[in-house]
Amino acid sequence: FNVPDPTNEPVKNYAPGSPERASLQAAINDARSKVVDIPMFIGSEEVRTGNKKELSPPHDHQHLLGYFHEGDSSHVEQAINAALGAKAAWENMQWEQRAAIFLKAADLLAGPYRDKINAATMLGQSKNVYQAEIDSACELIDFLRFNVKFMAEIYAQQPPIHGAGIWNRTEQRPLEGFVMAITPFNFTAIAGNLPSAPAMMGNTVIWKPAHTQIYAANVIMEVFRKAGLPDGIINLIYVDGPTAGDVVFSHPDFAGLHFTGSTGVFQTLWKTIGANISRYKTYPRIVGETGGKDFVIAHKSADAKELATALARGAFEYQGQKCSAASRAYIPSNLWEEVKGFLLADIDSMKMGGPEDFSNFINAVIDEKAFDKITGYIDEAKNDSNVEIVAGGNYDKSTGYFIAPTVIHVQDPMYKTMVEEIFGPVLTLYVYHAEHYEEALELVDQTSPYGLTGAVFSRDRYAIELATTKLRHAAGNFYINDKPTGAVVGQQPFGGARASGTNDKAGSMINLLRWVSPRTIKETF
Ligand code: NAD
Ligand code: ALA
Repeated sequence: FNVPDPTNEPVKNYAPGSPERASLQAAINDARSKVVDIPMFIGSEEVRTGNKKELSPPHDHQHLLGYFHEGDSSHVEQAINAALGAKAAWENMQWEQRAAIFLKAADLLAGPYRDKINAATMLGQSKNVYQAEIDSACELIDFLRFNVKFMAEIYAQQPPIHGAGIWNRTEQRPLEGFVMAITPFNFTAIAGNLPSAPAMMGNTVIWKPAHTQIYAANVIMEVFRKAGLPDGIINLIYVDGPTAGDVVFSHPDFAGLHFTGSTGVFQTLWKTIGANISRYKTYPRIVGETGGKDFVIAHKSADAKELATALARGAFEYQGQKCSAASRAYIPSNLWEEVKGFLLADIDSMKMGGPEDFSNFINAVIDEKAFDKITGYIDEAKNDSNVEIVAGGNYDKSTGYFIAPTVIHVQDPMYKTMVEEIFGPVLTLYVYHAEHYEEALELVDQTSPYGLTGAVFSRDRYAIELATTKLRHAAGNFYINDKPTGAVVGQQPFGGARASGTNDKAGSMINLLRWVSPRTIKETF
């Protein structure tokens, strides 16, 4: 194909004393010294409504990073009109021209904008330097570059000529109407991918990020514009979810939803779309990646140290605020004491504080609502005599929303923290009889309604095979002897089924195909 063959963007390590650390530190200092005023971007306009809302770092909630201008339903309508107005020119553009814009955006993020997007993610979403680098730099760059490759492959697909005098061909049309992208707070890469993937395929988009993500979303939009994205292709609005949904999902030109967020919200949106189905010109594409209750199960043959490291990293990276986070674990009785020792040592080494200090591993959870929800689960566990708090359990929101990495050991494998998505630094463990591995696999499969990620740890190939077979539908991303987080674009396409989503695998051809509607053309000569 006539596009560059992508490779994954290398992860920088920002070692002490390195020029890359100095440069990122300067970007953080610069961001902290300013109060930015963030408009919506609708068509050719930067829209400032005057309804200003404050943005602060979750780990330092007295500090003001800036304001964003909140819109209302009239701005949603304005964004839809801008998207529909820009559509004809965009969809008729040669796909290579669209590809060039997103490849340039990737290069800007890899080069001159890397520090700015990492600093925004560290401050706005409270991510440590490594978590910011793998998300807002590497994964977002990979989404853009790999999607361009998949796009080229899609446009190259043609059915064969069937015989003399007949030419059959397939045209990949963009959807008829506009696409709505709704993004969650926890990944800057997802924020960039959800509007850009449908846009690449010739669609125009309304993008509504979570309020707690707007600080980084503004930088992504700056990059897209700098890369030459024409006006009206991606319209970035800051409107509360239900208000935006009311206008978008009742509009006859609504043609697709690209959503990532919680299962509850996605189900509400799907019902609303279903209730409005007769209004639309076309059946809308619905793509949603949603919640998880991701498991780790160990066989009695597992390596205790490797398992403990995976649990600590999988459960507590980014304070457990990953859809993929290890949040329930099944440990065989023969390994428990050894695993506990390693796990407690790992947790002891995790410093907690703001990401401006690069040595802090644990930062704050995203906001007060999340803090109250997570600590509610912890308090309930503390007051339950059948539950042991093995590590953590303490928290403090006086300066930032800090919660210590917490490990809960339960006697009842159906205890609520084994079943429900908490979305915070809480790992719940159940110790099973080491000879009852098959029963433990049954528990893993049946405990939770989700099916996103999961991992098995074992040195016994039969045990690995049994888990792979029995847990076929329990995880869309299944790991053998590795933690269940950190999927890499182009290597492990990401997504889950059951209550975890439509499993359209972000950053893959499967996903991009959802944003086109093929037309078959037969011509006789
Ligand atoms: P959330 O569901 O609270 O919000 C997601 C988005 O939906 C936000 O932009 C929000 O404003 C919007 N929204 C909320 N109500 C709405 C409504 N009625 N109409 C329209 N939009 C509405 O999720 P969150 O707290 O931002 O993110 C965390 C959740 O996302 C977790 O459940 C996590 O598992 C999930 N997640 C899943 C994946 C995945 O790939 N499966 C990836 C990241 C996050
Ligand atoms: N893609 C992210 C991970 O794999 C959610 O952890």
